Amino acid sequence: MAQLNINGRTYNVDVEPDTPLLWAIREHVGLTGTKYGCGVAQCGACSVHLNGEVVRSCSIPVSTIKAGDKITTIEGLSRDSSHPVQKAWAAIDVPQCGYCQSGQIMAAVALLAKKPKPTDKDIDEAMTNICRCGTYHRIRAAVHMAAGNTKVGGVDATPSDKTTV
Ligand code: FES
Ligand code: FES
Repeated sequence: MAQLNINGRTYNVDVEPDTPLLWAIREHVGLTGTKYGCGVAQCGACSVHLNGEVVRSCSIPVSTIKAGDKITTIEGLSRDSSHPVQKAWAAIDVPQCGYCQSGQIMAAVALLAKKPKPTDKDIDEAMTNICRCGTYHRIRAAVHMAAGNTKVGGVDATPSDKTTV
């Protein structure tokens, strides 16, 4: 049994201690926005926040989650896709197949919380998530937009305190 605080709610999940956090989130809690890609901490599809830091949930056993740890998934960013990063992603039409994108967004939100005005180099170094569709140039543009460096389509994606989750 593990107790997990996810998106502000506490869940008691009946899992073995070595169960990856990803499976607890998806299979037991039912939040399926977080995706399985490689299972070995390489692709970033499973990215969530653990106490504000982006982590790869496929490689974190639930037994390592401490009482009081706060987990945020893509569903916890906003109820209506109104987080500035989500708005920028929509305005620039970043996703292609979409599979990697929740992980990309979680990585971008974590980056902007630390570096509100990241350079291309900052983005490339911080966001190592893999996109098989090759949307990297649009991801970079959307991060800049969310940072308030650019506006596209009249959408106000100026960062607010919601950037920090
Ligand atoms: S599924 Fe976790 S990093 Fe690929
Ligand atoms: S949008 Fe298809 S893998 Fe990234």
